[in-house]
Amino acid sequence: MLETLNFEVEKIVKSKIEEVDFTNLPFGKVFSDHMLVAEYSDGEWKNVKIGPYQPISFEPSLAALHYGQAIFEGLKAYRNQQGEPVVFRPEANFERFNISAKRMCMPEVPEEIFMKGLAQLIDVDKNWIPKEEGFALYIRPFMFATDEFIGVRPSQTYKFIIFTCPVGAYYSQPVKVKFETEYSRSCEGGIGFAKAAANYGASMYPTQLAQQQGFDQVIWTDASEHEYIEESGVMNVMFVIDGVLVTPPAKDTILKGITRDSVLTVARDWGMNVEERKVSVAEVIKAIEENRLTEAFGVGTAAVVSQIAEITYKDKKYILPEVAGRDFSNKVYRELDDIKTGKKADTRGWVFKV
Ligand code: COI
Repeated sequence: MLETLNFEVEKIVKSKIEEVDFTNLPFGKVFSDHMLVAEYSDGEWKNVKIGPYQPISFEPSLAALHYGQAIFEGLKAYRNQQGEPVVFRPEANFERFNISAKRMCMPEVPEEIFMKGLAQLIDVDKNWIPKEEGFALYIRPFMFATDEFIGVRPSQTYKFIIFTCPVGAYYSQPVKVKFETEYSRSCEGGIGFAKAAANYGASMYPTQLAQQQGFDQVIWTDASEHEYIEESGVMNVMFVIDGVLVTPPAKDTILKGITRDSVLTVARDWGMNVEERKVSVAEVIKAIEENRLTEAFGVGTAAVVSQIAEITYKDKKYILPEVAGRDFSNKVYRELDDIKTGKKADTRGWVFKV
């Protein structure tokens, strides 16, 4: 059970919920009624409040807009079999948020504000958690620098906000990807492991080029040789090769995905061989050519488990095995969904009632 803390709440006058078609929810366009806002100044967090989801105003000199001190998280709330709101692995997001904060020279957000504030916000907007299978309430905690100052130094003031949005699938179909061999997402010693807004901004140009070529996403490779696989768009990537689940190690350049960890944990518990190790493009291509690669998929909070249908490397397109026959990824998707929605027992302490 997640405790709530009774932060001050200002309820909206009229809910927007009646206007929402819960059977047709594009990702990230529909926002629930309320948000939580906390402010940081003089070395402490203060003014924590839940109020209507609404525009915020600031001066053009707002530090985050100029030098990118901005981080975020993504997690989801579901309904269990009794219809009660539950959140999946919020502690892991809380921990990662503060790891990102440290790397970006931002203050940590106290557990009390992140966890209890999140729980209270979900409680206030629990009617926004979709009931339909395949849908969830996406929760977006984020923090940004609010100094009105354009000298380059860490801001002394920040805002921490959580809002939520009911969502459907991020990718509605198996994706077509290409190995990116020119641009890089991150480099050793950089911020690739942090959920920093800058990582996403930097990924857009190469992704746009790939989309103009007919791909949905790129699979990033290492910045020095473009030889080893890193992650894909908004997902970590995994392959089943010779029956072994293989994924690049979550190190400096790769986001330590929580869905990634959940999938690896379940696979290990099922007795599957799992290898977190460097995976080269050459190894994957060879395994495809020799029919030893049976599954390729991305994992993430938004993307959940998203199948990869095709991979292109240097203009050569490889069509991957039929999605219907991918035993592991289909089964692990179902397993995680069953745990999140209480159809199966949560033996690992991942699901928190609100
Ligand atoms: C998430 O899976 O929560 C993400 O961070 C993806 C998001 C950028 C859409």
